Amino acid sequence: MCCPPETARLFFALVPDAGVRRRIAEIQRCMDLPGRRVPPSNLHVTLAFLGDVDVARIDELLAIGGAVSCPPCRLTLDRQGWFPRAAVTWLGSGQAPPQLLDFRERLAAQLAQVGFGVDTRPWTPHLTLYRKMRKRFATIDFEPVEWRVDGFSLVRSTLTGTGAVYDPLGHWQAVF
Ligand code: 2AM
Repeated sequence: MCCPPETARLFFALVPDAGVRRRIAEIQRCMDLPGRRVPPSNLHVTLAFLGDVDVARIDELLAIGGAVSCPPCRLTLDRQGWFPRAAVTWLGSGQAPPQLLDFRERLAAQLAQVGFGVDTRPWTPHLTLYRKMRKRFATIDFEPVEWRVDGFSLVRSTLTGTGAVYDPLGHWQAVF
């Protein structure tokens, strides 16, 4: 009898370094919202959510990660926002670097070319701070966070009773 393929829930993401992570976690603490706070170790900007992927295809994704070059750039997180349908509160950028938008487009195109269903809506980089946010929230004043983006990762997400656990499967440094 044939078994269903083993799958993994995967996504490509920008993962902040420890300093940026600390700054973001500080803002998150100051916001003190009644949602489910994303643990500092899980903070990231999703580049492409792939959903449940046959583990046999992970090598293909690692090859794509290695083939699409990420430019080093500076992402300024200076906006707070809320997606009512997703019920998430996020930090984002009023002006995302064009080279980052271009990189994300190249990554999404490569993924689409080999049949991965990637969100085709215009991508606006955002970093989720709180989930299960059913209501609008009061924004706070905060010092913008300057993030030197120097690479990206392929991440496996395992859903548990206490939230998602993320494991990096691959990381690629930005290329000048
Ligand atoms: P979010 O931060 O905007 O919520 C890992 O699960 C990441 O993939 C999450 O951070 C989430 O982005 C994104 N994600 C999860 N489920 C998704 C879905 N069904 N469609 C698009 N993106 C999703």
